[in-house]
Formats: sequence, C-alpha cells, structure tokens
Amino acid sequence: MGSKKIIIDTDPGTDDALALLIASNSNELEILGVTTVGGNANICDTTRNTLSMLDYIGSRVEVYKGATNPLSGTFQYAYHIHGKNGLDVGLPSPTSVAQTKSAEEYIADISKNYPQFVTIVALGPLTNIAKVIGSHNSESENIKEIIVMGGAVNVSGNVTQFAEFNIYSDPHAAKVVIDSGIPITLIGLDVTNQISVIKDDMPWPGGSTKISNLATCLISSGLSMPSLRSVYHLHDPLVIAATVMPDLLQFEEFKLDVILDGPERGRTIKKNEGRSVSVAIDVNVPSAKELIKSRLI
Ligand code: BDR
Ligand code: CA
Repeated sequence: MGSKKIIIDTDPGTDDALALLIASNSNELEILGVTTVGGNANICDTTRNTLSMLDYIGSRVEVYKGATNPLSGTFQYAYHIHGKNGLDVGLPSPTSVAQTKSAEEYIADISKNYPQFVTIVALGPLTNIAKVIGSHNSESENIKEIIVMGGAVNVSGNVTQFAEFNIYSDPHAAKVVIDSGIPITLIGLDVTNQISVIKDDMPWPGGSTKISNLATCLISSGLSMPSLRSVYHLHDPLVIAATVMPDLLQFEEFKLDVILDGPERGRTIKKNEGRSVSVAIDVNVPSAKELIKSRLI
C-alpha cells in the first residue's frame, strides 16, 4: 500500500511541533503541504514556528498561511501553555518563507485537481477548512477525509468544563466541518488526555538525534508551564500516530452538535439527527506512546 497523502493544518504550539516531527519521520505518510491557522498563538507566530520547525529538520514541504481570525470574533491565544511566541525553544528564525497562495486557496486547489486523494489532518481551530467548505463547496466535496484533533464527547473540556481548545476557538467552523458530509474522524480529549508525559518520565523520548533533542526540549518547555500542572498531554502527536495506525484507537459513530455560544460554547454533544462522524472513544495507551516515541528518536 502507498503512503497516505496528507495536508497538515496546524497552529504550533509545542504539541503541534511534535506532531510535525512525527509526521515528517513516518514513511506511511506523505506530507503534501502544511497550512497554518491562528489558535495557540497568532497567525504570524504559528506560521513562523511552522517554517522554523521544517527548516530545522531540513524539510522542503511548502507552507501556506491561513486564517488570522475565527469565523466570528477573535482567537484567545494559549501563550500561557505554549510559551513566548507559541514555541519558546530557541529555534533560529526561518530562512524559508510561506507561499503566496493562502491556505484556503491551496486546500481548494489540491481538492479540485486531485479528487478523493487528500486526507486533511487538522491540529488547530477548523477555520481554514470551514472557509474552503463555505467558499469552494464543490472542491471541498473532493476531500477524502478530515481527521480532527478536537472535542470532548464523554469527558470534560480543557478550556471550560465543556469545551476542548480547538473547537472552543472556532465553534462556528467546527459546526461547518462536522455538518459538511465529508468523512470526519474526531480525535479529542476522550483519548488524547490518556497519552501524557510527566516530569518523572524525563528526559523523554530520550535519544540523541536531531529530532529527539528537539522533541525533549519541546516537552520540557511544556512541562515548565505552571498552567499544565506537570502533565504534558500528547494531543496532536496522538492524532498523527492514529493517522499512521488507526488501529491504535477505538471508534464509535455519533451524530454531533457543536454549541456555538454561551457557557457551553465549543461543546461537542451527541444528538439524534444529522450526519454521523467517527469519534475516538478509547486508545491503546502503551502502543500509542511507543509509536510516538519511536518516531521522535
Ligand atoms: C489542542 O489545543 C491546543 O492547545 C493543542 O495544540 C491541541 O491541538 C488540545 O486541546
Ligand atoms: Ca494544535
């Protein structure tokens, strides 16, 4: 079987940065392009961080800058979790630059030119993808699958009691994506909260390669943030691991609504009507952590 062709839509962020390392180090995946979105940090920071990461590992994958703001309102950034500039690990400024085409145009073009070819792995707020669905509807129907890091279905949220960060950041976009009819796999806190690194595990992943040195630095940086209370969850890395090996997770089909406003903003909640999405409800913790570690060394 050939490699899975993916576009990574991302907002680095330390766990997004780890996810980029894992994907770049996985032969099962071919990264066609990386699109950026505001979320953990502002769009200038997330785009620069993406370029710096790819430069560091010598990747020539092209980067397309995406949304500055969610569909409605503004992002509430998470610098208190990801550090100064969203990635405080001393990477040099990038020498490469983002493409002139926007993230939205790039995703629409690839979908048009290569129908049923591309899996989008969405690691941040779903704004770029919702914009493609909204403005390039016939092209978006050609997207093969969208694998989303987001949501908290049977567990509590991590921004509020109800909401997970990516969905909370742009609930309107999440609703557009979930209701789109494109095959959706939602990998949220129900499983990503189960995969973590604590201070006693450090140095993790260990090793002394270029990738493992940076990975250890990213996780140390995360663990040093008081708001994480000494537990570093491998949210986005698990999503890449599951893209490589879906059998790491157990899934159930649910119809889901997204609460747009009010105290439950960003909540992903089961409903009786509508389209079904595939929701990850459990994970093989030792195997998932081993796969992640093996791709970071
Ligand atoms: C998600 O929110 C972000 O802070 C992480 O990068 C991850 O994508 C977890 O809720
Ligand atoms: Ca992310």
